[in-house]
Amino acid sequence: MAPKLAAGNWKMNGTRAALAEITALAAAHRTSDIGILICPPATLLSQAVASADGALSIGGQDCHAADAGAHTGDISAPMLADAGATDVILGHSERRTDHHETDAEVRAKSEAALNAGLTPVICVGETEAERDAGSTLDVIGNQLAGSLPDTSETVVVAYEPVWAIGTGRVPTLDQIAEVHDFIRTSLHDRFGATADDISLLYGGSVKPSNAAEIFAVSNVDGALVGGASLKASDFSGIIAALEAA
Ligand code: PGA
Repeated sequence: MAPKLAAGNWKMNGTRAALAEITALAAAHRTSDIGILICPPATLLSQAVASADGALSIGGQDCHAADAGAHTGDISAPMLADAGATDVILGHSERRTDHHETDAEVRAKSEAALNAGLTPVICVGETEAERDAGSTLDVIGNQLAGSLPDTSETVVVAYEPVWAIGTGRVPTLDQIAEVHDFIRTSLHDRFGATADDISLLYGGSVKPSNAAEIFAVSNVDGALVGGASLKASDFSGIIAALEAA
């Protein structure tokens, strides 16, 4: 059984004032039996860990494939771990687009994350043009093959259709089911029975109002949430929907 996980991706949002949201989430969900992860900007990591007070996990939004070196502006996986992070989002479509990250780079970063004891949350997803061309499953299959390291231990996969991120547009439940079933089968083919333990998250315009129906879809074990993770009151609704699923 894959663990349930509600993950929040704050992207480039949040200064110290936003730590109050983490404090509120920690207070509200201290006894939750699902995984709850917040990935704030790197500047807030250590303080976020303190605010989470052991009730929530805190993660990074990217890491470099190397442990240290001459890479101005980058952050390594051991640095994230040292700051108290337990997870790191890798291969988000905004990184793939804005920073031209390839599957091979995402895979190298994922290996670095695992070596540092972090759980990589590896993102895959098709563009609107790729969906319109009928190549969604080919795209996802290639991204999975190229981005995932050869060990499936403690990896999380997030399916995020690029056209659904931050747009308010969500695939139909059948479309989500088709891709999630495909991902589970692909992971099974590659990793065997351990694939059943990999949490598969859906991401893209998840809100408290649509979370319950998404969590009822087969092979959806949670969500990677952007905009609706910034306010504790919104994210709490999504967490509650996953707890009840
Ligand atoms: P969104 O972002 O929930 O704001 O659509 C999701 C994501 O990019 O992880």
